[in-house]
Amino acid sequence: VNTGDFDDLRAIAALRERYPFWLHVDAAFGAFAVLSSAHRHLVDGLDLADSICIDLHKWLNVPYDSAVQFTRSPDLQTSVFQNAAAYLGPLGDTPDLAHLTPENSRRLRALAAWFTLRAYGPDGHREITERSINCARTLGEAVTGIPGLRLLAPVRLNVVCFTLAEDPTAERLAALTAQLAEEAFLTPTVLDGVPALRAAFSNWQTTDTDTRRVAGALRAAVRELC
Ligand SMILES: Cc1ncc(COP(=O)(O)O)c(C=O)c1O
Repeated sequence: VNTGDFDDLRAIAALRERYPFWLHVDAAFGAFAVLSSAHRHLVDGLDLADSICIDLHKWLNVPYDSAVQFTRSPDLQTSVFQNAAAYLGPLGDTPDLAHLTPENSRRLRALAAWFTLRAYGPDGHREITERSINCARTLGEAVTGIPGLRLLAPVRLNVVCFTLAEDPTAERLAALTAQLAEEAFLTPTVLDGVPALRAAFSNWQTTDTDTRRVAGALRAAVRELC
């Protein structure tokens, strides 16, 4: 989450031959890498998972709270979550969602997801995903070129994790983000004990121009602070 990094899913899945376990993949952001031919390899082996979760309120750009889950064992879902209440009727062959998740009453969250998939389709979502990835790469390169900043991890997908090169305290980082408040919302984090900032790109409206403007503001704010 801090850096947008990936595990070697194929290698982990291979361990199941020696140690039987359930492989769940948290692909909240990462699954969208399949939309980019240059990044698809990052989720190689995703199809070997026993279950996968993907957030839709992130890169699919639908409102909170929306996600999808895929599982190889729907029976397990019902044995854990089924609602044994007479008024809800029997499970049947295709159990209602009330029998598959911890929630009973719920809004039709799938509607927004369906609308955007219909409206933008694979090509539209590929464009949004690739644009976000390009923005992250642009900001990552800008951070590398700004004296006073340090990139903490390679930009592998859509997250840029960086900090102040000198004295990276949470207070100094907060002062930096306060100066940027008009331009960008950057959230604080801690990576390997080092206070840092995390820029995650997923909004469908963010462009290269926005990114370059933020990079410029960041350069000015760092100059002011240091
Ligand atoms: C990889 C990953 N997993 C899980 C989460 C948490 O997602 P949610 O708040 O939708 O449960 C995030 C949020 O950033 C994430 O990036």
